[in-house]
Amino acid sequence: MRNPIIVALDVPSPDTALELATQLAPSCGGFKIGSELFTAAGPDIVKRIRERGALVFLDLKFHDIPNTVAKAVTSAVKLDVQMLTVHAGGGTEMLKAAEKAAEETAYKMGRTPPLVLGVTVLTSLDSAALREVGLDVNVEYQVRRLATVAVKAGLRGLVCSPLEIAALRKTIPSQVQLVVPGIRTGAEKADDQKRTMTPKEAIAAGATWLVIGRPIYAAENPKEAAEKILESLQ
Ligand code: C5P
Repeated sequence: MRNPIIVALDVPSPDTALELATQLAPSCGGFKIGSELFTAAGPDIVKRIRERGALVFLDLKFHDIPNTVAKAVTSAVKLDVQMLTVHAGGGTEMLKAAEKAAEETAYKMGRTPPLVLGVTVLTSLDSAALREVGLDVNVEYQVRRLATVAVKAGLRGLVCSPLEIAALRKTIPSQVQLVVPGIRTGAEKADDQKRTMTPKEAIAAGATWLVIGRPIYAAENPKEAAEKILESLQ
């Protein structure tokens, strides 16, 4: 079975990230590097984590004019990342430019193109927040709408919350990969994640990959925590 666990390395120091990556590489499917670690440690952290043989998901949520996003994606492919994020709200031209840059750069380098993942509505936004920025729509409707825009533009994956999986699986083609954060096992302390599912529930609902941060890296024994989660999926 493919290991669907992507550990979010939401730590500020490269040393801590590398220590975690070395310890966890055999027990997970890959690592997510977000803005905190990337901004602190620079592109070198991607190379050093790739050296551990793990897949890297670069979560920088690009959102800019198509030309700039295409260039950022090109740089990410050169770093050898396997997944990266762009905001679906950037529009069709931006999304097409991102996918094209991923495919063309990977082709030139003899690599498999990374999965360009569309981010729809941030889970921190509710309908009142959307209204404030001029979007008088229901959140679920906006998620489905942006997902459709992303898939029509050629994206092969989306990031979504556990509670959006079922609706998206009804809306988008089955081969589109869903990468899902907001996973909790029930054993950890309560934190800022409100709408969660267990790893097993999320996979059963149709998640392709699970992004898990604190339940693994903040556990007393991160390796054991990752292995327990993997066992719960068997
Ligand atoms: O620690 P935790 O398991 O909550 O980490 C989840 C990771 O997924 C974090 O890196 C967080 O930024 C990211 N994420 C999220 N919810 C979203 C999108 C991304 O938790 N809607």
